[in-house]
Amino acid sequence: MPAFAGMTIMTTPKILVIPGSLRTGSHNARLAALAAKELALAEAEVTRISLEDYPLPLFDADLVAAAGPPQPAVQLKQMLLAHQGVFITSPEYSASVTPLIKNTIDWISRVRDPGEPTYAAFKGRVFAIGSAAASSGGGVRSLMALRQILELGCGALVIPEQVSVPRADQAFDDMDNLKDESAAAALKTMARRLVELASVMS
Ligand SMILES: Cc1cc2nc3c(=O)[nH]c(=O)nc-3n(C[C@H](O)[C@H](O)[C@H](O)COP(=O)(O)O)c2cc1C
Repeated sequence: MPAFAGMTIMTTPKILVIPGSLRTGSHNARLAALAAKELALAEAEVTRISLEDYPLPLFDADLVAAAGPPQPAVQLKQMLLAHQGVFITSPEYSASVTPLIKNTIDWISRVRDPGEPTYAAFKGRVFAIGSAAASSGGGVRSLMALRQILELGCGALVIPEQVSVPRADQAFDDMDNLKDESAAAALKTMARRLVELASVMS
């Protein structure tokens, strides 16, 4: 946290937005786009990516031993390092995150420069999470799993404010806004809090 004479210096934070689904018409991609808008309104500099542009094989330690981590994993780690905040939105698959998100996080966690501490890309920045899911549960089990992976697995700071969108196929209007006022308010609250905390990360 940068500080001068006891004062915290706040800067325009860079926030990375990652949807955890590649599906055409993905509700989580819609949620990611809406989150990107809210983060920009909260005065962040936002980068929204698709993991389609970072194709990775299923993690296998033999691949690392043979050739090191693939280039997309290295690029994703660099993307994380270049941002002070990260928003990840994952669908709920079988009461957990998608294999896409888990595989991506596992790969990034194995990209390590000589002498670098473990999980460097997950530390020194702040994370927020969301889920849009088909059921009335709103992907809360996916959110719990993602929080566990990031916090307990990778040592990341994940803010308590999170976004849960139940019955995702009916949750968005024609303008791709959330119809439910409480979900829309939760998204705004998450965005403001993420920007506020990211702005004081070095
Ligand atoms: C393999 C698989 C497992 C799923 N498991 C759940 C689940 O546990 N809970 C749930 O609410 N929806 C579940 N769904 C439905 C997804 O939440 C729904 O397809 C959602 O729209 C996927 O997100 P997307 O639109 O961003 O691709 C599952 C879908 C798939 C393909």
